[in-house]
Amino acid sequence: MSITFKNVDFIYSPDTPFSYHALKGVDLDIPEGSFTALIGHTGSGKSTLIQHINALLLPSSGEVRVDDFIITATDKPSVLKPLRQKAGLVFQFPEYQLFEETIARDIMFGPVNFGMPEDEARAVAAKTLEMVGLNDTYMERSPFEISGGQKRRVAIAGILAMDPDILVLDEPTAGLDPQGAKEMLRLFKSLQKSGKTIIMVSHDMNQVLEYCDHVVVMNKGRIERNCSIDELFKEKDYLSSLSIDLPVITAFINDLNSQGFHLDHDIKDIETLVKAIGGELHE
Ligand SMILES: Nc1ncnc2c1ncn2[C@@H]1O[C@H](COP(=O)(O)OP(=O)(O)O)[C@@H](O)[C@H]1O
Ligand SMILES: [Mg+2]
Repeated sequence: MSITFKNVDFIYSPDTPFSYHALKGVDLDIPEGSFTALIGHTGSGKSTLIQHINALLLPSSGEVRVDDFIITATDKPSVLKPLRQKAGLVFQFPEYQLFEETIARDIMFGPVNFGMPEDEARAVAAKTLEMVGLNDTYMERSPFEISGGQKRRVAIAGILAMDPDILVLDEPTAGLDPQGAKEMLRLFKSLQKSGKTIIMVSHDMNQVLEYCDHVVVMNKGRIERNCSIDELFKEKDYLSSLSIDLPVITAFINDLNSQGFHLDHDIKDIETLVKAIGGELHE
């Protein structure tokens, strides 16, 4: 389930005074099975880009390929309906994604729309609700009477209920407490391990370091970097030009190494770091 952008431009409200050129000559390959982070300033085009992956937006020019689907400016949305099952998108503001009277009906909506019998869809809803950390007492509650973080969980459950091969998440941990964020990221990681391709917009470089393997950097509608996490975090000056802080662990390793340590730059978690420091102290 590979994803390729070829020379994609996207213009909001073309030929009007409000026209805005949001994507410029985007060429991009996202490897199948990767956990890719999409980072960059607010307004750089991240949300616009990912809405092309399930054809919610069609390119103004160029083409997007998702597996066998080819998405161009002239495609009719109806032709692309099966793509919505393969590539699930959780919006930046998930409250816009919820609309049914009960949480159960909201999560069941996609599967039923794609032909799953009601009772089966209900069982899927209960299962995906549990996956996102909400028990079945939530099934019959209204999606409008829960907290922002819980709405986000319900929106994610609704997408998981479709069992998409590609999961696209726009700032999925916004509004979650640190423990909730961690649980959610672990869920995405386990979904990646089960073979899915995960694309996540994030501003948190600690998350990017710990969970992602690839990173795409956007700036003013263009792709500026598409590389491994290790490569990106070596580029200290470039990142500071984008006002992106290094992950805490990476900054700490840099500090220690400038004082004579020889720690490996691709250490990603505290436990490994502590062991490595211990190892050098005992040498
Ligand atoms: N519906 C829209 N109409 C016009 N301009 C838009 C619309 N949505 C986003 N934009 C503009 O496109 C640019 C990229 O937006 P977006 O993709 O949301 O960026 P990001 O997700 O990186 O913050 C921004 O300058 C934004 O103001
Ligand atoms: Mg956005």
